Amino acid sequence: MKKAFQPCTVRKLTLPGHSGIYLLLLLFPPLLSACASVSGGVLDPQGPEAQRVAYLSWLMFGVAAVVFTVVTVLLLLTAVRTRRQRSVEYSPESDHRALNGVIVGGVVIPAVVLLIIMGLSIAVQQISAAPASGDLTVEIVGHQWWWEVNYPDYGVTTANEIHIPAGRPVLIKLTSADVIHSFWAPQLHSKLDLIPGQTNSFVLQADNAGVYRGQCAEFCGLQHAHMVFLVVADKTDDFNTWLEQQRQSAPEPDEGSFEQEGQQAFLGSACVYCHTIKGTNASGTLGPDLTHVASRQTIGAGILPNGHGYLAGWIMNSQTVKPGNEMPPMDLDAEQLQAILAYLDTLK
Ligand code: CUA
Repeated sequence: MKKAFQPCTVRKLTLPGHSGIYLLLLLFPPLLSACASVSGGVLDPQGPEAQRVAYLSWLMFGVAAVVFTVVTVLLLLTAVRTRRQRSVEYSPESDHRALNGVIVGGVVIPAVVLLIIMGLSIAVQQISAAPASGDLTVEIVGHQWWWEVNYPDYGVTTANEIHIPAGRPVLIKLTSADVIHSFWAPQLHSKLDLIPGQTNSFVLQADNAGVYRGQCAEFCGLQHAHMVFLVVADKTDDFNTWLEQQRQSAPEPDEGSFEQEGQQAFLGSACVYCHTIKGTNASGTLGPDLTHVASRQTIGAGILPNGHGYLAGWIMNSQTVKPGNEMPPMDLDAEQLQAILAYLDTLK
């Protein structure tokens, strides 16, 4: 590190290795935003609220660019002028002019610009915070470090994956079971906190079917960065099919099958104290509901894809994957593990 980094000097600008690229990125924020739109960022809005946030972002960027340009030009003009004038003469008039310049350029203009931007920001937030109603209500509870997702009108509970019908307003109600989290799918809406003992709500709408990545946006402990969720916007028919499927209890495995052996191993283990599988005795609520775990795309709130091998590793010792999470390492032999995996596979 030390070797690569040379301090800047006035005469010769020396910067670390890839400084040229950093400088370029600093000078051209749109290059950074281009990256953001590839992964689905604020500047690639896919819903009405995100659209307003994107307009505001571009407006702020425009204002900042104008201010930056004006200040740079003034700075250069001053530099050129003072270089030409070997000596500067001061008089009461020049002092007065300078003072006026400072008051107008340093106080009045910034105050007006900032007030306008503040007003617009408040307006966008007010729209977001307006009393909300939607075609569907989804209650989301933040946990360290995963998302509990409830559809109270349908008795459906899932985790880390929020299915909504595309093109329709959905009322999202947010609260937390432990610390403050923040709900944020950048392409769809602005951030909103999940606060213990309080419910915050807003209307979420995705204009088009698709999968939108979301992330906890408030530092909430060791695995804050691994608190990912997916908003899956389905076409209405697909959404109804999904909802109907999620309402079902878990299918009962065939008598004497390997899957049934897995079910018994699951129900005989500590799993039941933390997880619910509807239709069985497992009714814990500390961890994600597993009734339809096989229908989800990820495990561990986005940390791993939902596949046999990943799930095996997660079950045996999720602490190696996501240290500090609430799930303890499990003491299972190979047969039990394989049977449980086969059973979980049936929970579509
Ligand atoms: Cu939850 Cu950060």
